[in-house]
Amino acid sequence: MNEGADDGGGAGGAARSPGCGPEGDGFVPSALGTREHWDAVYKRELQTFQEYGDTGEIWFGEESMTRLIRWMQKHKIPLDASVLDIGTGNGVFLVELAKFGFSDVTGIDYSPSAIQLSQNIIEKEGLSNIKLKVEDFLNPSTKLSGFHICIDKGTFDAISLNPDNAIEKRKQYVESLSRVLKVKGFFLITSCNWTKEELLDEFSEGFELFEELPTPKFSFGGRSGNSVAALVFQKT
Ligand SMILES: C[S@@+](CC[C@H](N)C(=O)[O-])C[C@H]1O[C@@H](n2cnc3c(N)ncnc32)[C@H](O)[C@@H]1O
Repeated sequence: MNEGADDGGGAGGAARSPGCGPEGDGFVPSALGTREHWDAVYKRELQTFQEYGDTGEIWFGEESMTRLIRWMQKHKIPLDASVLDIGTGNGVFLVELAKFGFSDVTGIDYSPSAIQLSQNIIEKEGLSNIKLKVEDFLNPSTKLSGFHICIDKGTFDAISLNPDNAIEKRKQYVESLSRVLKVKGFFLITSCNWTKEELLDEFSEGFELFEELPTPKFSFGGRSGNSVAALVFQKT
């Protein structure tokens, strides 16, 4: 996974690059899969925000947020639907959702620095009704439940790189998702580590594909494809 990967070829123009895709039979474990890594990243970004007001990296670029909000608009998701952003990072997507009019928005992240940064950005934007919690999604509190919509932009990717039994962690992720999402609720995932087919396989139990969202195509060396997959699943 490339930091700051954007839609115009998030993986540096190639379908996959080191850190953004499995190599051989599985993912190469990486610091990107650890809490220490993310906490260090957001500690730095928090400092930068305090000094310069820069909100930092938006994973997969601005367009990734527009794409999701456009989908919600197209499907007339009510503005009072409860929305959970899993691994919210700097919380910029929460700000976009609230500005669009969503009134029941929650962001979780296992990095306390990420949640502090989100808090500071939300305050600066003058928004007050966004809920934030430090939570490990692989072990969510019982209070985290009943969501109509769950969003993941790069978090399942990060978890897939965990050096400590990533296969088990991916299973835990799917279990957590089943717990927090309502039946018939939607799960919107954006990934640069997994293809559409792989995601269909990962989320085959308890979820069905509702829609694939278009992402920009790349072509390289006579081959073409998408460097980012964006899918909407519905809980069955
Ligand atoms: C690639 S960043 C994406 C951040 C944000 N979603 C965005 O689009 O800008 C991955 C995020 O997932 C968070 N994360 C990774 N594993 C997590 C877990 N088990 N529970 C909660 N958050 C997690 C990291 O702290 C980081 O903020």
